[in-house]
Amino acid sequence: MRKLILDLDTGVDDTLAISYALGSPEVELIGITGTYGNVLLEQGIRNDLAITDLLGHPEVKVYKGLPHASTSDSFQVLPISEFIHGKNGIGDVRIPDSNREPETESAIDFIIDAAKTYGKDLIYVPTGPMTNIAAALRTAPEIKDQIGKIVLMGGALTVCGNVSPWAEANISQDPDAANELFRSGAPTTMIGLDVTLQTLLTYKETQRWRDLGTPAAKFLADMTDFYIKAYETTSPHLGGCGLHDPLAVGVAVDPSLVTTLPINMQVDVEGATRGRTIGDNTRLNDPVKTMEVAVQVDVPRFLKEFMDRIGGLAAQ
Ligand code: BDR
Ligand code: CA
Repeated sequence: MRKLILDLDTGVDDTLAISYALGSPEVELIGITGTYGNVLLEQGIRNDLAITDLLGHPEVKVYKGLPHASTSDSFQVLPISEFIHGKNGIGDVRIPDSNREPETESAIDFIIDAAKTYGKDLIYVPTGPMTNIAAALRTAPEIKDQIGKIVLMGGALTVCGNVSPWAEANISQDPDAANELFRSGAPTTMIGLDVTLQTLLTYKETQRWRDLGTPAAKFLADMTDFYIKAYETTSPHLGGCGLHDPLAVGVAVDPSLVTTLPINMQVDVEGATRGRTIGDNTRLNDPVKTMEVAVQVDVPRFLKEFMDRIGGLAAQ
């Protein structure tokens, strides 16, 4: 069975990504590596442990990643992140803390070990800043040829950013790390705002979870309602909330959910457009393409998979 690592800054849609992965029998979630972004690293780790407990999967190991970008010496959560994900990252819904602790092995070592152990069977899905994978590639560059695939949520090809006119949130937190990944030659699929802003959830779907009546389903419904409400303020034209991170997991499980274009991308790391994802003009005509960029998504099929898988998990 294919093995999955999720690298998360565990906010609301990251939690839905965990749920999608745990509801997918085709893949085994072998670990969660924590990063910073929607919340501080420590809060994200706390969420990962508590969420996997609540969803009935305390066997999922959680590894601590780096607490900030290598270009800074600290990290502060942006006010917009708190507004969208709540102060605790999970819509300010309270769930019991786990009795478990994160693993003592670092996220970086775990990613490297997993690439060497599982090789082409390993899919790594970062849905926060790319800081951990960039550090892993710096430490062990050979993993770029060993790892099966990286399916990341971040960036945009045909639309504007969501934290600035240029930049998407995950890329903008650490543009240098994202650029290292994009230019590394690791087989990577970019699931950007072009497709994730088409996959939207509404109160109608969260009510279906609430009707299941289990603590896990109620938690997912309450948390996601907070997120939908924030989207009503920030993006009222959409008519729902973006399923950014779960779409990346959906594509990791079933790549046919999206249509992709082979484009070697880079990230602007200088000047006013820092954080913009764009075709790398030094490699555009290179016959070898190591990146695929999602440009179309089968929205009805993804939403059905999303509801079936998370509903099936949360009903237990
Ligand atoms: C991405 O930014 C974060 O806020 C979300 O969790 C998602 O990973 C969307 O731009
Ligand atoms: Ca995220």
